[in-house]
Amino acid sequence: MRQEDRKETEIQIEYIKKAAALLSEKETEAGRKLRACVVTFGCQMNARDSEKLIGILEQVGYEITEDENADFVLYNTCTVRENANLKVYGRLGVLNGYKKKNPGMKIALCGCMMQEPQVVEKLRTSYRFVDLIFGTHNLYKFPELLVSVLSQEGTIIDIWDKTDRIVEDLPVKRKYSYKSGLNIMFGCDNFCTYCIVPYVRGRERSREPEDILAEAKSLAQDGCKELMLLGQNVNSYGKNLENAPSFAQLLEMVCNVEGIERVRFMTSHPKDLSDELIQVMKRNPKICRHLHLPLQSGSTEILRRMNRRYTKEQYLELALKIRREIPDLSITTDIIVGFPGETESDIEDTLDVIRQVRFDNAFTFIYSKRSGTPAASYEDQVSEEFISAQFDRVLKLVQETAREQAGKYEGLTMDALIEEVNESDPTLVTGRLSNNCLVHLPGDASLIGSIIPVFLRECKGFYYLGERK
Ligand code: 5AD
Ligand code: SF4
Repeated sequence: MRQEDRKETEIQIEYIKKAAALLSEKETEAGRKLRACVVTFGCQMNARDSEKLIGILEQVGYEITEDENADFVLYNTCTVRENANLKVYGRLGVLNGYKKKNPGMKIALCGCMMQEPQVVEKLRTSYRFVDLIFGTHNLYKFPELLVSVLSQEGTIIDIWDKTDRIVEDLPVKRKYSYKSGLNIMFGCDNFCTYCIVPYVRGRERSREPEDILAEAKSLAQDGCKELMLLGQNVNSYGKNLENAPSFAQLLEMVCNVEGIERVRFMTSHPKDLSDELIQVMKRNPKICRHLHLPLQSGSTEILRRMNRRYTKEQYLELALKIRREIPDLSITTDIIVGFPGETESDIEDTLDVIRQVRFDNAFTFIYSKRSGTPAASYEDQVSEEFISAQFDRVLKLVQETAREQAGKYEGLTMDALIEEVNESDPTLVTGRLSNNCLVHLPGDASLIGSIIPVFLRECKGFYYLGERK
């Protein structure tokens, strides 16, 4: 960690103390404990950021709740697709209703959506009841912003357009004791033409391997057994560092941390996935049998216009090589339907790749036009009718192959990490297999956090029913 980043941590810890003093005054005034709620939209990165935000709020003295009718409500937003934004605006209306009844309530917004100038403008003019708006680059300043919001009225807006800082060691409140996300890099330099992430998350920055390993060790000492290494494009890990290990080497280093029994990672860009990584995954049993390898489209021409930098053939060659090398690995993907200029024949190519790779699962998205991205100004945007018909075709095939793939392990016994008591049937617990499939089995809360062999009795489409072996 750099000296100035370490210093920043100390500064923010001082702000946590100041915020705690302010909060305690407010609690005395109110004559009760004050409650805070953080709502997370979007991906694993946001989920991890929210753990940091909750850690700070808890340290300041708030009682953490899931009830949005609270004294401090923070939305950690996503903007990868338009419907994520619409959800936020809708829910803000509800929050305003709560605030009218509880005038001391503070409403805060952060995350990717706040990095878009037109969003902030709209909030500034039409959602004036929002008290605090900050972005992705100054998340580590949250304690300082909290002090401002607790000591003054009026909306505070603090958005940066970039940062080169990685501030570590602020409080974190982990959602699960037995598993955790671990950021290995931030931002993205790929500029796929449909994607807003490089604009809202900034340039790619990798964390130092020593910092990553120190965090992995501390998580392991804290009882964490499974780690998910997080980055927009983990295969290009270390590009901005001197003498950095490759991603495959880093993965092995994390596997060697005592107490860590499983390691996952997300997300891989097909253009950067190395043979070294395939070999490391093949030989190291701690690396989970799951690879998320976004395809986006099976058409070489659409891939070119998306700036994905691989062809249909290259993707197929890679995915089929991985299937050959590690037959029990589950491969999942993301697919976008309705990219500008997409024709039925492009969709046929996508269907062809699905048939050949037989994805174990796929997230299918309707193309969403994001302003500021190159594809938003492409002239050949496609019609809604076309998209909806093609989307259904893709979804149907994806579901068929996923169901067939899941059935492959019926009758086998595999290790599962038990994650929780089943919500709809409390006599069952839910475990996750190394390949990311879920299994429900008889058991109770005492099993949570243990890795146990489970007989996979029956495949129910996307999950198994099983029992302890
Ligand atoms: N429209 C639809 N889907 C998108 N994704 C990213 N940007 C868009 C967009 N503009 C999808 C991609 C990516 C996943 C996280 O979200 O498939 O892999
Ligand atoms: Fe977006 Fe492409 Fe970067 Fe993924 S790799 S975050 S799709 S620009």
